[in-house]
Amino acid sequence: MTKTTETSPTQTFVRFTLIQRLEHITFLLSFSLLGFTGLPQKYPVSPISLALFNAFGGVENLRMIHHISAIVMLIISLAHVIELLYSLIVTRTPISMIPWINDIQHVINDVLYYLGFRKHKAYYGRYSYAEKAEYLALIWGTVVMALTGFMMWNPITTVRMLPGEAIPAAKAAHGGEAVLAVLAIIIWHFYHVHLKTFNKSMFTGKLNREEMEHEHPAELAAIDAGKQRAPISAGELRKRQLIFAPFALVSIAVFAFGIYYLVGYETTALTTLPTGETAPVFAPLPTATPLPPTATVPAPTAAAVPVALTWDTSISALFQQKCAACHGAMALAGIDFTSYAGAIKGGLNGPIIVPNDAANSNLIQKQEAGNHPGQLSADEIAQIKAWIDAGAPEK
Ligand code: HEC
Repeated sequence: MTKTTETSPTQTFVRFTLIQRLEHITFLLSFSLLGFTGLPQKYPVSPISLALFNAFGGVENLRMIHHISAIVMLIISLAHVIELLYSLIVTRTPISMIPWINDIQHVINDVLYYLGFRKHKAYYGRYSYAEKAEYLALIWGTVVMALTGFMMWNPITTVRMLPGEAIPAAKAAHGGEAVLAVLAIIIWHFYHVHLKTFNKSMFTGKLNREEMEHEHPAELAAIDAGKQRAPISAGELRKRQLIFAPFALVSIAVFAFGIYYLVGYETTALTTLPTGETAPVFAPLPTATPLPPTATVPAPTAAAVPVALTWDTSISALFQQKCAACHGAMALAGIDFTSYAGAIKGGLNGPIIVPNDAANSNLIQKQEAGNHPGQLSADEIAQIKAWIDAGAPEK
């Protein structure tokens, strides 16, 4: 190659191999699917989640797609580990993704640049500190998600080794890390590779000279100065590949067995009711059958005395069971049914209970209109009405 072609502006530089690009696109797809099927499980009452539950054909399908995407992501992660070891052991490519002293200098340089004390940004090599940070965050995130995901997928196996608290802890970590990862991609990743400059190299595999000058000037300078590693001889490469192959095969076999085990070992999904189920959800306990006349002990008279209908005796429990999921800690519409004071106070639009006047109580009107996300049965509505008309007593 002559000097002129070498510095022509149309000259391109290989940035990502085909394998790396395939890894990226598979990761992208499984990541997106995991997000779309995972976040609705974390925020089940949001209208967006409801739309996603419907779009994926119900919660069981959604969970299945979540699990399949997780397995795809595990496979791609293993492929990446094998690829990494291949570059370390076989091609012996220098490690370029691990943060180094000069990255700290680059950060200081860039902070000074943004504050106006420097005229230019740092001269990045093959990967900038921002790219390295994102890569390491992805590895860390994948490890956390895989471990906590495994714990929720196989809770029985998990509690043989860890205390039971580990399961809700895993759930909290899994959901929190998911939100963090999705936000990092939307805010940080999209900004850096799509908004700041539209960097297509992850799809085309190439960068041109101008892009290299902007984004990886130190790497470009090294290439221009001819400071590239001498290629390995074909014989030497072959020899190393032969050493590597059995090792890679064993890892793949162990991993494949692990996945097989993971998928089939525990069935933890709850069988959800088929849609259209009309069985009453609230089934009051049958009233105690009176003792047979031959009994020597007289039937307890307490049972015959009607229990006063108050917040404390039964109303509180009904709201707790039917309404508190949304109108409790979450206080949708500003309503909190977990305390008497909260129920009486009402919501964002004022009181919902008018003591002694059930017909004019917003709560009753809403419930009688039907179709509320939390709907009481006719019997239960009648019970609440009777309570309100009796003055909605607490005790
Ligand atoms: C799945 C979640 C969910 C459950 C369960 C639920 N609600 Fe609601 N509720 C909402 C939402 C969302 C709103 C606000 C939108 C609306 O008015 O429909 C609301 C609003 C209300 C309002 C109207 C407030 C206003 O200002 O008009 C009342 C009253 C109410 N709920 C009572 C109940 C009662 C009583 C129960 C239990 C039987 C219940 N809700 C269960 C989600 C729920």
